[in-house]
Amino acid sequence: MINKKILDKYNVPVPRYTSYPPANHFKNEFKESDYIQFIEESNTRRPGHIAIYIHIPFCKKICFYCGCNACTIKSDQLIVDYFEALKNELELVTKHLDTNRKVSQVHFGGGTPNVVNVKFLEKINELIFNKFEFIDHPEIAIECNPAYLDYEYMDRLLAAGFNRFSLGIQDFNQDVLKAVNRSVSEIPIDQLVKYLKKSSTATVNLDFIYGLPGQSKVSFYETIEKAIQIKPDRLVTFSYAHVPWLKKHQEILAKKGLPSSEEKMQMFLTAREILIKGGYIPVGLDHYVLPGDELSVALKNNQLHRNFQGYCTRRTTGQVYAFGVSAISQLENAYIQNVKEVETYIQKIKNKKLPIEKGLVLNDEQIIVRELITKLMCNQQLNLKKIADDFDIDLYKLKSIVRFTDEKLQEFINDGLLTFNDDEIRVTETGSLFIRNIATLFDPLYTKQKNKYSKTV
Ligand SMILES: C[S@@+](CC[C@H](N)C(=O)[O-])C[C@H]1O[C@@H](n2cnc3c(N)ncnc32)[C@H](O)[C@@H]1O
Ligand code: SF4
Repeated sequence: MINKKILDKYNVPVPRYTSYPPANHFKNEFKESDYIQFIEESNTRRPGHIAIYIHIPFCKKICFYCGCNACTIKSDQLIVDYFEALKNELELVTKHLDTNRKVSQVHFGGGTPNVVNVKFLEKINELIFNKFEFIDHPEIAIECNPAYLDYEYMDRLLAAGFNRFSLGIQDFNQDVLKAVNRSVSEIPIDQLVKYLKKSSTATVNLDFIYGLPGQSKVSFYETIEKAIQIKPDRLVTFSYAHVPWLKKHQEILAKKGLPSSEEKMQMFLTAREILIKGGYIPVGLDHYVLPGDELSVALKNNQLHRNFQGYCTRRTTGQVYAFGVSAISQLENAYIQNVKEVETYIQKIKNKKLPIEKGLVLNDEQIIVRELITKLMCNQQLNLKKIADDFDIDLYKLKSIVRFTDEKLQEFINDGLLTFNDDEIRVTETGSLFIRNIATLFDPLYTKQKNKYSKTV
Protein backbone atom coordinates (compact mmCIF):
# COMPACT_ATOMS: atom_id res chain seq x y z
CA MET A 1 0.00 0.00 0.00
CA ILE A 2 1.21 3.52 -0.80
CA ASN A 3 1.74 5.61 2.32
CA LYS A 4 -0.55 8.58 2.77
CA LYS A 5 2.30 11.10 2.84
CA ILE A 6 3.45 10.06 -0.63
CA LEU A 7 -0.12 9.94 -1.92
CA ASP A 8 -0.89 13.47 -0.69
CA LYS A 9 2.41 14.81 -1.97
CA TYR A 10 2.02 13.50 -5.52
CA ASN A 11 -1.76 13.63 -5.97
CA VAL A 12 -1.60 17.00 -7.70
CA PRO A 13 -2.85 18.32 -11.07
CA VAL A 14 -0.49 17.18 -13.83
CA PRO A 15 -0.91 16.74 -17.59
CA ARG A 16 -2.05 13.32 -18.86
CA TYR A 17 0.59 13.53 -21.58
CA THR A 18 -1.63 11.98 -24.25
CA SER A 19 0.34 14.42 -26.38
CA TYR A 20 3.45 16.49 -25.90
CA PRO A 21 3.11 19.43 -25.65
CA PRO A 22 -0.33 18.92 -24.03
CA ALA A 23 -3.38 20.21 -25.94
CA ASN A 24 -3.73 23.31 -23.72
CA HIS A 25 -0.60 24.66 -25.45
CA PHE A 26 -2.24 24.63 -28.89
CA LYS A 27 -2.55 28.08 -30.46
CA ASN A 28 -5.49 29.65 -32.31
CA GLU A 29 -3.51 31.28 -35.09
CA PHE A 30 -3.16 28.10 -37.15
CA LYS A 31 -4.23 28.69 -40.78
CA GLU A 32 -5.72 26.36 -43.38
CA SER A 33 -2.72 26.93 -45.67
CA ASP A 34 -0.40 25.87 -42.80
CA TYR A 35 -2.35 22.64 -42.41
CA ILE A 36 -2.15 21.85 -46.12
CA GLN A 37 1.58 22.48 -46.06
CA PHE A 38 1.98 20.16 -43.05
CA ILE A 39 -0.12 17.42 -44.67
CA GLU A 40 1.99 17.58 -47.82
CA GLU A 41 5.23 17.55 -45.84
CA SER A 42 4.00 14.62 -43.75
CA ASN A 43 4.12 12.39 -46.85
CA THR A 44 7.86 12.01 -46.27
CA ARG A 45 7.82 12.04 -42.46
CA ARG A 46 8.41 9.05 -40.21
CA PRO A 47 6.66 6.79 -39.30
CA GLY A 48 5.44 6.61 -42.88
CA HIS A 49 2.11 4.84 -42.38
CA ILE A 50 -1.23 6.61 -42.49
CA ALA A 51 -3.39 6.40 -39.36
CA ILE A 52 -6.93 7.76 -39.57
CA TYR A 53 -8.99 8.98 -36.63
CA ILE A 54 -12.70 9.72 -37.08
CA HIS A 55 -14.63 11.47 -34.32
CA ILE A 56 -18.34 10.77 -33.91
CA PRO A 57 -19.46 13.09 -31.09
CA PHE A 58 -23.05 11.85 -30.72
CA CYS A 59 -24.53 10.15 -27.65
CA LYS A 60 -28.12 9.39 -26.60
CA LYS A 61 -27.50 11.08 -23.26
CA ILE A 62 -24.48 12.43 -21.46
CA CYS A 63 -22.89 10.40 -18.66
CA PHE A 64 -22.18 12.77 -15.76
CA TYR A 65 -18.50 11.79 -15.54
CA CYS A 66 -17.84 12.21 -19.26
CA GLY A 67 -14.71 14.12 -20.22
CA CYS A 68 -14.96 13.38 -23.96
CA ASN A 69 -16.13 15.73 -26.70
CA ALA A 70 -19.71 14.41 -26.80
CA CYS A 71 -23.17 15.86 -27.47
CA THR A 72 -26.73 14.62 -27.68
CA ILE A 73 -28.39 14.14 -31.06
CA LYS A 74 -30.48 17.23 -31.86
CA SER A 75 -32.03 15.84 -35.06
CA ASP A 76 -31.66 12.99 -37.54
CA GLN A 77 -30.83 15.55 -40.24
CA LEU A 78 -27.82 16.68 -38.19
CA ILE A 79 -26.37 13.16 -38.42
CA VAL A 80 -26.92 13.06 -42.18
CA ASP A 81 -25.21 16.45 -42.53
CA TYR A 82 -22.37 15.44 -40.20
CA PHE A 83 -21.54 12.30 -42.19
CA GLU A 84 -21.73 14.24 -45.45
CA ALA A 85 -19.25 16.72 -43.96
CA LEU A 86 -16.98 13.88 -42.79
CA LYS A 87 -16.88 12.41 -46.30
CA ASN A 88 -16.07 15.81 -47.76
CA GLU A 89 -13.38 16.46 -45.18
CA LEU A 90 -11.80 13.11 -46.06
CA GLU A 91 -11.83 14.16 -49.73
CA LEU A 92 -10.36 17.59 -48.96
CA VAL A 93 -7.46 16.17 -46.94
CA THR A 94 -6.65 13.00 -48.84
CA LYS A 95 -6.07 14.81 -52.11
CA HIS A 96 -2.85 16.10 -50.46
CA LEU A 97 -1.76 12.63 -49.33
CA ASP A 98 0.56 10.31 -51.17
CA THR A 99 -1.64 7.25 -51.66
CA ASN A 100 1.40 5.02 -52.13
CA ARG A 101 1.60 5.19 -48.36
CA LYS A 102 -0.36 2.47 -46.57
CA VAL A 103 -2.98 2.77 -43.89
CA SER A 104 -2.05 0.93 -40.68
CA GLN A 105 -4.81 2.09 -38.34
CA VAL A 106 -8.35 3.44 -38.54
CA HIS A 107 -10.01 4.45 -35.28
CA PHE A 108 -13.61 5.60 -34.81
CA GLY A 109 -13.87 7.36 -31.45
CA GLY A 110 -16.40 9.48 -29.71
CA GLY A 111 -18.88 10.19 -28.37
CA THR A 112 -20.53 6.94 -29.31
CA PRO A 113 -19.91 5.88 -32.92
CA ASN A 114 -22.45 3.04 -32.60
CA VAL A 115 -25.29 5.39 -31.71
CA VAL A 116 -25.81 6.21 -35.40
CA ASN A 117 -27.33 3.96 -38.05
CA VAL A 118 -24.58 1.51 -39.00
CA LYS A 119 -24.94 2.44 -42.68
CA PHE A 120 -23.13 5.73 -41.97
CA LEU A 121 -20.09 3.88 -40.58
CA GLU A 122 -20.14 1.38 -43.45
CA LYS A 123 -20.02 4.22 -45.98
CA ILE A 124 -17.02 5.87 -44.32
CA ASN A 125 -15.09 2.59 -44.22
CA GLU A 126 -15.99 1.94 -47.86
CA LEU A 127 -14.60 5.34 -48.81
CA ILE A 128 -11.35 4.73 -46.92
CA PHE A 129 -10.95 1.18 -48.29
CA ASN A 130 -11.47 2.48 -51.84
CA LYS A 131 -8.99 5.32 -51.46
CA PHE A 132 -6.08 3.60 -49.78
CA GLU A 133 -3.88 0.53 -49.69
CA PHE A 134 -3.56 -1.09 -46.27
CA ILE A 135 -0.74 -2.91 -44.44
CA ASP A 136 -1.35 -6.59 -43.61
CA HIS A 137 -3.57 -6.92 -40.55
CA PRO A 138 -4.38 -3.24 -40.03
CA GLU A 139 -6.24 -2.14 -36.91
CA ILE A 140 -9.79 -1.01 -37.70
CA ALA A 141 -11.07 0.07 -34.32
CA ILE A 142 -14.33 1.41 -32.97
CA GLU A 143 -15.42 2.63 -29.53
CA CYS A 144 -18.89 1.37 -28.67
CA ASN A 145 -21.44 1.82 -25.93
CA PRO A 146 -22.73 -1.74 -25.30
CA ALA A 147 -26.21 -0.43 -24.46
CA TYR A 148 -26.71 0.35 -28.15
CA LEU A 149 -25.32 -2.84 -29.71
CA ASP A 150 -27.49 -5.63 -31.06
CA TYR A 151 -26.62 -8.76 -33.06
CA GLU A 152 -27.41 -7.29 -36.47
CA TYR A 153 -25.40 -4.15 -35.70
CA MET A 154 -22.40 -6.25 -34.62
CA ASP A 155 -22.63 -8.40 -37.77
CA ARG A 156 -22.58 -5.30 -39.92
CA LEU A 157 -19.62 -3.81 -38.05
CA LEU A 158 -17.68 -7.04 -38.56
CA ALA A 159 -18.64 -7.15 -42.25
CA ALA A 160 -17.58 -3.50 -42.60
CA GLY A 161 -14.05 -4.51 -41.58
CA PHE A 162 -13.90 -3.53 -37.91
CA ASN A 163 -11.57 -5.82 -35.97
CA ARG A 164 -10.99 -3.97 -32.67
CA PHE A 165 -13.88 -3.19 -30.43
CA SER A 166 -13.61 -1.09 -27.33
CA LEU A 167 -16.71 -1.32 -25.14
CA GLY A 168 -17.34 1.28 -22.44
CA ILE A 169 -18.46 -0.66 -19.37
CA GLN A 170 -17.27 1.67 -16.56
CA ASP A 171 -18.79 -0.55 -13.82
CA PHE A 172 -21.03 -3.63 -13.63
CA ASN A 173 -22.81 -2.28 -10.56
CA GLN A 174 -26.20 -0.98 -11.69
CA ASP A 175 -26.45 1.57 -8.85
CA VAL A 176 -23.17 3.13 -9.95
CA LEU A 177 -24.34 3.27 -13.57
CA LYS A 178 -27.62 4.85 -12.50
CA ALA A 179 -25.78 7.47 -10.42
CA VAL A 180 -23.76 8.52 -13.46
CA ASN A 181 -26.74 8.58 -15.88
CA ARG A 182 -25.68 5.54 -17.87
CA SER A 183 -27.92 2.93 -19.51
CA VAL A 184 -27.36 -0.77 -18.92
CA SER A 185 -26.76 -3.09 -21.85
CA GLU A 186 -29.69 -5.44 -22.53
CA ILE A 187 -27.41 -8.10 -23.98
CA PRO A 188 -25.05 -9.30 -21.22
CA ILE A 189 -21.47 -8.14 -21.81
CA ASP A 190 -20.06 -11.70 -21.88
CA GLN A 191 -22.40 -12.50 -24.77
CA LEU A 192 -21.45 -9.34 -26.66
CA VAL A 193 -17.76 -10.17 -26.30
CA LYS A 194 -18.30 -13.78 -27.39
CA TYR A 195 -20.36 -12.69 -30.36
CA LEU A 196 -17.78 -10.15 -31.60
CA LYS A 197 -15.01 -12.69 -31.16
CA LYS A 198 -16.69 -15.18 -33.45
CA SER A 199 -14.59 -13.38 -36.05
CA SER A 200 -11.09 -14.87 -35.68
CA THR A 201 -9.43 -11.47 -36.18
CA ALA A 202 -11.59 -9.47 -33.75
CA THR A 203 -10.26 -8.39 -30.37
CA VAL A 204 -12.26 -6.75 -27.62
CA ASN A 205 -11.25 -4.19 -25.00
CA LEU A 206 -13.37 -3.24 -21.98
CA ASP A 207 -13.12 0.23 -20.36
CA PHE A 208 -13.71 0.76 -16.63
CA ILE A 209 -13.54 3.88 -14.47
CA TYR A 210 -12.74 4.05 -10.75
CA GLY A 211 -13.50 7.07 -8.58
CA LEU A 212 -17.23 7.37 -9.31
CA PRO A 213 -19.97 7.97 -6.70
CA GLY A 214 -21.15 4.75 -5.07
CA GLN A 215 -17.98 2.83 -5.86
CA SER A 216 -15.91 1.24 -3.11
CA LYS A 217 -12.89 -1.03 -2.99
CA VAL A 218 -15.26 -4.01 -2.61
CA SER A 219 -17.66 -3.03 -5.38
CA PHE A 220 -14.85 -2.30 -7.83
CA TYR A 221 -13.20 -5.61 -6.89
CA GLU A 222 -16.44 -7.37 -7.82
CA THR A 223 -16.65 -5.50 -11.11
CA ILE A 224 -13.11 -6.39 -12.13
CA GLU A 225 -13.59 -10.03 -10.98
CA LYS A 226 -16.56 -10.23 -13.32
CA ALA A 227 -14.51 -8.66 -16.12
CA ILE A 228 -11.74 -11.24 -15.68
CA GLN A 229 -14.32 -14.05 -16.06
CA ILE A 230 -15.33 -12.52 -19.42
CA LYS A 231 -11.67 -12.56 -20.47
CA PRO A 232 -11.48 -9.60 -22.85
CA ASP A 233 -8.24 -9.29 -24.84
CA ARG A 234 -7.59 -5.95 -23.20
CA LEU A 235 -8.96 -3.99 -20.30
CA VAL A 236 -8.43 -0.43 -19.11
CA THR A 237 -9.07 0.97 -15.63
CA PHE A 238 -9.27 4.75 -16.06
CA SER A 239 -8.93 6.99 -13.05
CA TYR A 240 -11.96 9.30 -13.09
CA ALA A 241 -10.63 12.66 -14.33
CA HIS A 242 -12.59 15.35 -12.52
CA VAL A 243 -12.34 18.59 -14.51
CA PRO A 244 -15.63 20.45 -13.77
CA TRP A 245 -14.14 23.76 -14.96
CA LEU A 246 -14.10 22.16 -18.46
CA LYS A 247 -17.09 19.79 -18.11
CA LYS A 248 -19.83 21.44 -16.09
CA HIS A 249 -22.00 18.30 -15.88
CA GLN A 250 -19.31 16.71 -13.68
CA GLU A 251 -20.42 19.02 -10.84
CA ILE A 252 -23.40 16.68 -10.39
CA LEU A 253 -21.01 13.91 -9.39
CA ALA A 254 -19.20 16.06 -6.85
CA LYS A 255 -22.59 16.71 -5.23
CA LYS A 256 -23.32 12.97 -5.09
CA GLY A 257 -20.01 12.44 -3.27
CA LEU A 258 -16.79 11.25 -4.86
CA PRO A 259 -14.52 8.62 -3.26
CA SER A 260 -11.40 10.02 -1.53
CA SER A 261 -7.97 9.72 -3.14
CA GLU A 262 -7.11 6.90 -0.66
CA GLU A 263 -10.23 4.99 -1.71
CA LYS A 264 -9.40 5.59 -5.36
CA MET A 265 -5.89 4.31 -4.86
CA GLN A 266 -7.25 1.19 -3.14
CA MET A 267 -9.61 0.54 -6.06
CA PHE A 268 -6.76 0.93 -8.51
CA LEU A 269 -4.38 -1.33 -6.56
CA THR A 270 -7.00 -4.01 -5.88
CA ALA A 271 -7.95 -4.10 -9.55
CA ARG A 272 -4.29 -4.28 -10.54
CA GLU A 273 -3.61 -7.14 -8.15
CA ILE A 274 -6.48 -9.34 -9.29
CA LEU A 275 -5.88 -8.58 -12.96
CA ILE A 276 -2.25 -9.66 -12.66
CA LYS A 277 -3.32 -12.76 -10.68
CA GLY A 278 -5.91 -13.40 -13.38
CA GLY A 279 -3.15 -13.60 -16.00
CA TYR A 280 -3.20 -10.05 -17.39
CA ILE A 281 -0.03 -8.10 -18.14
CA PRO A 282 -0.01 -4.42 -17.18
CA VAL A 283 0.87 -2.04 -20.00
CA GLY A 284 1.56 1.54 -19.01
CA LEU A 285 -0.34 2.79 -16.01
CA ASP A 286 -3.83 1.55 -16.64
CA HIS A 287 -3.95 -0.93 -19.54
CA TYR A 288 -3.97 -4.70 -19.10
CA VAL A 289 -3.59 -7.25 -21.87
CA LEU A 290 -3.57 -11.04 -22.22
CA PRO A 291 -0.13 -12.61 -22.77
CA GLY A 292 0.66 -12.82 -26.46
CA ASP A 293 -1.28 -9.63 -27.21
CA GLU A 294 0.57 -7.38 -29.63
CA LEU A 295 0.94 -4.71 -26.93
CA SER A 296 2.63 -7.04 -24.43
CA VAL A 297 5.04 -8.28 -27.12
CA ALA A 298 5.74 -4.65 -28.10
CA LEU A 299 6.32 -3.76 -24.44
CA LYS A 300 8.91 -6.55 -24.12
CA ASN A 301 10.69 -5.41 -27.29
CA ASN A 302 10.61 -1.69 -26.47
CA GLN A 303 8.30 -1.15 -29.44
CA LEU A 304 5.36 0.28 -27.58
CA HIS A 305 3.99 3.61 -28.72
CA ARG A 306 1.25 5.94 -27.62
CA ASN A 307 -0.98 8.54 -29.23
CA PHE A 308 -4.33 10.22 -28.47
CA GLN A 309 -6.06 6.92 -29.33
CA GLY A 310 -4.14 5.07 -26.61
CA TYR A 311 -1.28 2.56 -26.77
CA CYS A 312 -0.26 1.10 -30.10
CA THR A 313 2.76 -0.66 -31.53
CA ARG A 314 5.46 0.60 -33.87
CA ARG A 315 3.88 -1.67 -36.53
CA THR A 316 0.63 0.29 -36.59
CA THR A 317 2.00 3.73 -35.69
CA GLY A 318 1.64 6.35 -38.40
CA GLN A 319 1.11 10.02 -39.02
CA VAL A 320 -2.42 10.50 -37.65
CA TYR A 321 -4.91 12.41 -39.84
CA ALA A 322 -8.02 13.21 -37.84
CA PHE A 323 -11.52 13.99 -39.07
CA GLY A 324 -14.66 15.33 -37.42
CA VAL A 325 -15.31 17.81 -34.63
CA SER A 326 -12.49 18.42 -32.13
CA ALA A 327 -10.36 15.71 -33.80
CA ILE A 328 -6.59 16.20 -33.50
CA SER A 329 -4.18 15.29 -36.30
CA GLN A 330 -0.82 14.20 -34.94
CA LEU A 331 1.98 14.69 -37.45
CA GLU A 332 5.69 14.27 -36.77
CA ASN A 333 6.20 17.99 -36.26
CA ALA A 334 2.70 19.43 -35.72
CA TYR A 335 -0.68 18.94 -34.05
CA ILE A 336 -3.80 20.39 -35.68
CA GLN A 337 -7.21 20.39 -34.02
CA ASN A 338 -10.61 20.84 -35.66
CA VAL A 339 -13.39 23.11 -34.37
CA LYS A 340 -15.41 21.67 -31.49
CA GLU A 341 -19.00 22.63 -32.47
CA VAL A 342 -20.91 20.29 -34.79
CA GLU A 343 -22.81 23.08 -36.61
CA THR A 344 -19.64 25.16 -37.15
CA TYR A 345 -17.85 22.08 -38.45
CA ILE A 346 -20.62 21.27 -40.96
CA GLN A 347 -20.81 24.89 -42.14
CA LYS A 348 -17.05 25.19 -42.68
CA ILE A 349 -17.01 22.04 -44.80
CA LYS A 350 -20.05 23.27 -46.77
CA ASN A 351 -17.95 26.36 -47.54
CA LYS A 352 -15.16 24.04 -48.74
CA LYS A 353 -12.93 25.15 -45.86
CA LEU A 354 -10.85 22.83 -43.71
CA PRO A 355 -12.49 23.06 -40.27
CA ILE A 356 -9.35 23.67 -38.27
CA GLU A 357 -9.34 25.74 -35.09
CA LYS A 358 -5.94 25.47 -33.48
CA GLY A 359 -2.63 23.74 -33.65
CA LEU A 360 0.98 23.67 -32.66
CA VAL A 361 4.19 23.37 -34.60
CA LEU A 362 6.78 21.46 -32.61
CA ASN A 363 10.33 22.76 -32.60
CA ASP A 364 13.26 20.30 -32.63
CA GLU A 365 13.61 20.45 -28.87
CA GLN A 366 9.92 19.69 -28.29
CA ILE A 367 10.21 16.66 -30.59
CA ILE A 368 13.02 15.38 -28.37
CA VAL A 369 11.05 16.01 -25.15
CA ARG A 370 8.03 14.26 -26.68
CA GLU A 371 10.10 11.18 -27.52
CA LEU A 372 11.55 11.10 -24.02
CA ILE A 373 8.17 11.44 -22.28
CA THR A 374 6.49 8.90 -24.61
CA LYS A 375 9.28 6.37 -23.97
CA LEU A 376 8.99 6.93 -20.23
CA MET A 377 5.20 6.56 -20.21
CA CYS A 378 5.35 3.41 -22.37
CA ASN A 379 8.34 1.55 -20.98
CA GLN A 380 8.72 2.89 -17.41
CA GLN A 381 12.42 3.26 -18.08
CA LEU A 382 14.63 5.63 -19.94
CA ASN A 383 18.20 5.51 -21.14
CA LEU A 384 19.22 9.14 -21.60
CA LYS A 385 22.38 8.23 -23.50
CA LYS A 386 20.38 6.14 -25.98
CA ILE A 387 17.91 8.96 -26.60
CA ALA A 388 20.78 11.41 -27.13
CA ASP A 389 22.35 8.96 -29.63
CA ASP A 390 19.01 8.49 -31.44
CA PHE A 391 18.80 12.25 -32.01
CA ASP A 392 22.51 12.54 -32.75
CA ILE A 393 23.16 15.01 -29.94
CA ASP A 394 25.45 14.72 -26.93
CA LEU A 395 24.15 13.84 -23.49
CA TYR A 396 24.94 17.28 -22.12
CA LYS A 397 22.72 18.89 -24.80
CA LEU A 398 19.88 16.42 -24.12
CA LYS A 399 20.03 17.18 -20.41
CA SER A 400 19.89 20.91 -21.05
CA ILE A 401 16.86 20.51 -23.39
CA VAL A 402 14.88 18.64 -20.74
CA ARG A 403 16.19 20.89 -17.92
CA PHE A 404 17.66 17.81 -16.28
CA THR A 405 19.36 18.16 -12.90
CA ASP A 406 20.38 15.47 -10.39
CA GLU A 407 18.69 17.52 -7.65
CA LYS A 408 15.31 17.42 -9.41
CA LEU A 409 15.53 13.64 -9.58
CA GLN A 410 16.81 13.22 -6.02
CA GLU A 411 13.49 13.94 -4.34
CA PHE A 412 11.76 11.27 -6.46
CA ILE A 413 14.60 8.83 -5.71
CA ASN A 414 14.31 9.57 -1.96
CA ASP A 415 10.54 8.95 -2.15
CA GLY A 416 11.17 5.57 -3.80
CA LEU A 417 9.59 6.47 -7.16
CA LEU A 418 12.63 5.83 -9.34
CA THR A 419 16.27 4.80 -9.52
CA PHE A 420 18.99 6.47 -11.57
CA ASN A 421 22.22 4.71 -12.55
CA ASP A 422 24.52 5.12 -15.55
CA ASP A 423 22.17 7.63 -17.18
CA GLU A 424 19.32 5.14 -16.96
CA ILE A 425 16.08 5.94 -15.14
CA ARG A 426 13.96 3.06 -13.92
CA VAL A 427 10.53 3.69 -12.51
CA THR A 428 9.72 1.61 -9.42
CA GLU A 429 6.38 -0.17 -8.81
CA THR A 430 5.27 2.78 -6.63
CA GLY A 431 6.65 5.24 -9.16
CA SER A 432 4.56 3.72 -11.95
CA LEU A 433 1.46 5.05 -10.18
CA PHE A 434 2.93 8.53 -10.39
CA ILE A 435 4.35 8.26 -13.89
CA ARG A 436 2.66 11.55 -14.92
CA ASN A 437 4.44 13.33 -12.03
CA ILE A 438 7.76 11.79 -13.11
CA ALA A 439 7.16 12.95 -16.69
CA THR A 440 6.82 16.57 -15.46
CA LEU A 441 10.50 16.39 -14.43
CA PHE A 442 11.45 16.48 -18.10
CA ASP A 443 8.77 18.88 -19.29
CA PRO A 444 10.17 22.41 -19.66
CA LEU A 445 6.63 23.76 -20.25
CA TYR A 446 5.15 22.37 -17.03
CA THR A 447 4.11 24.84 -14.37
CA LYS A 448 2.08 24.01 -11.27
CA GLN A 449 -1.41 25.42 -11.82
CA LYS A 450 -4.81 24.80 -10.32
CA ASN A 451 -7.84 23.99 -12.52
CA LYS A 452 -5.80 23.11 -15.54
CA TYR A 453 -5.19 19.38 -15.29
CA SER A 454 -6.85 16.47 -13.52
CA LYS A 455 -5.11 15.09 -10.41
CA THR A 456 -2.76 12.11 -10.64
CA VAL A 457 -4.94 9.67 -8.67
C1 LIG B 1 -15.74 7.68 -26.02
S1 LIG B 1 -15.98 6.78 -24.54
C2 LIG B 1 -16.27 5.08 -25.05
C3 LIG B 1 -17.44 4.74 -25.92
C4 LIG B 1 -18.85 5.07 -25.46
N1 LIG B 1 -19.10 6.47 -25.62
C5 LIG B 1 -19.14 4.63 -24.07
O1 LIG B 1 -19.15 5.47 -23.19
O2 LIG B 1 -19.39 3.45 -23.88
C6 LIG B 1 -14.28 6.61 -24.04
C7 LIG B 1 -13.97 6.20 -22.64
O3 LIG B 1 -13.42 7.28 -21.92
C8 LIG B 1 -13.56 7.04 -20.54
N2 LIG B 1 -13.87 8.31 -19.89
C9 LIG B 1 -14.80 9.22 -20.27
N3 LIG B 1 -14.79 10.27 -19.42
C10 LIG B 1 -13.84 10.02 -18.49
C11 LIG B 1 -13.34 10.73 -17.36
N4 LIG B 1 -13.83 11.91 -17.00
N5 LIG B 1 -12.35 10.17 -16.64
C12 LIG B 1 -11.82 8.98 -16.99
N6 LIG B 1 -12.25 8.26 -18.05
C13 LIG B 1 -13.24 8.77 -18.79
C14 LIG B 1 -14.64 6.00 -20.37
O4 LIG B 1 -14.11 4.84 -19.78
C15 LIG B 1 -15.13 5.75 -21.79
O5 LIG B 1 -15.40 4.38 -21.99
S1 SF4 C 1 -18.90 8.20 -21.70
FE1 SF4 C 1 -19.42 7.61 -23.78
S2 SF4 C 1 -21.67 7.45 -23.78
FE2 SF4 C 1 -21.15 8.55 -21.97
S3 SF4 C 1 -21.33 10.69 -22.60
FE3 SF4 C 1 -19.17 10.12 -22.79
S4 SF4 C 1 -18.93 9.51 -24.87
FE4 SF4 C 1 -21.16 9.52 -24.45
